[in-house]
Amino acid sequence: MSSISLQVNDQNLQTEIDDRMTLADLLRNNLNLTGTHLACELGVCGACTVLVNGEPIRSCITLATSVSGMSVQTIEGFEDDDKMKVIRECFSEAHGLQCGFCTPGMLITVRDMIVRQKCNTESQIRNELSGNLCRCTGYSGIVKATQLANALLQTEPLPKVSTR
Ligand code: FES
Ligand code: FES
Repeated sequence: MSSISLQVNDQNLQTEIDDRMTLADLLRNNLNLTGTHLACELGVCGACTVLVNGEPIRSCITLATSVSGMSVQTIEGFEDDDKMKVIRECFSEAHGLQCGFCTPGMLITVRDMIVRQKCNTESQIRNELSGNLCRCTGYSGIVKATQLANALLQTEPLPKVSTR
C-alpha cells in the first residue's frame, strides 16, 4: 500500500491505495468518476484519456502512484469549461457520436488538439485522432465536429454553434 496525494478536478485528495492500482481504477472505482471509460486496458483505444498536469494520458496504463503530487482532470472536470462546451455542442451538431462510449476520451483529445493548434487540415486531424478509436461513427462526424469547433474557437468571444 502507498499513500498518495493529488488533485482531481481541482479537489485535493489524499488516500491509501494498492501499489498496482491504475489511475483509471482509482478514478472509476474509488472516486466514482465513471466518465473515464475502459475498453482495451492496453493503452490502445484512448477511451480512458484524462489530463495529467494538462497533458493527455492513458489512465488505464498509468499507475495511480505515479501521478502523486500531480493534477488530474477527467471529463467531469470540464463541466464549466468554455472550450469544452463549444466542442460538445459541435459533436452533437455534426453527429460526432453514436453510442458515446469513445466520446469522453475523444472530447479531451480534441480539446487538446485545438489548444495545441493541430487541426489545420483534415489529414492532420485524422492523424492526431488516430490514438482514439471509435467503433460506431466511421470518424467522419468526429472530424467534421473537430473542424467546426476549431473554427469557432479561433474567434472571441465564443460564438453560438451552428452548422447551418
Ligand atoms: S482503455 Fe485505456 S487505452 Fe483503451
Ligand atoms: S460513438 Fe460509439 S464508439 Fe464512438
